[in-house]
Amino acid sequence: MFESRQGRISPVESLCMSIQTPTSPVVVPEIQPEGSRFVRACLRRSVDRTPVWFLRQAGRYMQEYREVRKHHTLVEICKQPEIAAEVTITAAEKLGVDAAIIFADLLLPLEPMGLDFEFQAGEGPVVYHPIRSAEDVAKLQTDRAAELGYVAKAIEKVAAHFNAKADPLGIIGFCGAPFTLASYMIEGGGSKNYIETKKLMYGDNAAWRMLLDKIVAVLTEYCRLQVEAGADVIQIFDSWVGALSLTDYRAYAFEASRRLVRNVQTLGVPVIYFGVDTAALLGDMAATGADVIGLDWRQPLDLAWNAVGHGHAIQGNLDPITLFAPLDVLRERVHEILSAADGRPGHIFNLGHGIVPGTPVENVQAVVKMVREFKLPQGHRD
Ligand code: CP3
Repeated sequence: MFESRQGRISPVESLCMSIQTPTSPVVVPEIQPEGSRFVRACLRRSVDRTPVWFLRQAGRYMQEYREVRKHHTLVEICKQPEIAAEVTITAAEKLGVDAAIIFADLLLPLEPMGLDFEFQAGEGPVVYHPIRSAEDVAKLQTDRAAELGYVAKAIEKVAAHFNAKADPLGIIGFCGAPFTLASYMIEGGGSKNYIETKKLMYGDNAAWRMLLDKIVAVLTEYCRLQVEAGADVIQIFDSWVGALSLTDYRAYAFEASRRLVRNVQTLGVPVIYFGVDTAALLGDMAATGADVIGLDWRQPLDLAWNAVGHGHAIQGNLDPITLFAPLDVLRERVHEILSAADGRPGHIFNLGHGIVPGTPVENVQAVVKMVREFKLPQGHRD
């Protein structure tokens, strides 16, 4: 199915192949035989225009989300598929984007691993009994991923909604990357210097490896549930991997990320691998084999794509705070990114990190319009 991997055929392609067989009757499938614009871009296929969606597109900057949050906690929303699906669909439709990311959170898999947490107002996530030793790692459970079935149920509802459309949106499932999830489990929340994480990483290699192995096992099952429910792409968030030097990324994080990427690809969907502050890591992140590399906003997109390699698609990379700028500045930055992509197949327009609270929704909508209307000047490469 993916050019770089042999012997795999997507359900959509096998359908196309079957209708091309001369002896079989021609049946025109209900679904678009070529897949959504977003999925095609993930696979570096040609598209009619650059697909666009936004990291954290359903969030507190949006009035509709704040209304739902008045009545439910974040975790309640995630655990009620009807509400999670509604939040996902509302945000995607209000913005007119090409993909919908399921409303869930990176930390949900901690609970079935035996770590309880909560989101405290203004504080972000707090894990009650963070992991600090090999004994703590040994206690983590890996056979309860099915308890995350509520996320799969929400995806089913989102898929039923969007797959019925003539121009279907891509449906994105997601999970954390092993390093980033491990950092939450060890620090007990967000962190500035990742001291406890690095203490375990450097100080007890066996415990660190066991932790990453357990995380990969649970996340693989979690992604399987999401793909079976209808996610057509999985994004792996390595949000805090930029805390690592290239040497440490190679020594302590790369292998587990690569394993997770490969496991998810075996489920038959493309993978987007995203991190922040990753300029030094991009080539190695690409070496995980991810189909798409998600960029932060710090480097011009063409330089970053060179570092990633043109055998991968890329996603990005507008600074989310540009959404507070006057429209002419915003347009300049959007055009800069699209010009740097140069019409090459395999660019998905996005931010370099999530939309922050207080962002004017109309500016996010304006970016969608700018991306839709953009035309490369005459004489570009194709
Ligand atoms: O449209 C979407 O992207 C919504 C779905 C989504 C959420 N979290 C809901 C959420 C996604 C994809 C995530 C991923 C996530 N969660 C990441 C990776 C993405 C990134 O930003 O790098 C991380 C690191 C987390 C962990 C997390 N969740 C933190 C650190 C926080 C607090 C930060 C804050 O802004 O307060 C959350 C809370 C959270 N998860 C919110 C949302 C919409 C905002 C708070 C709320 O509604 O109470």
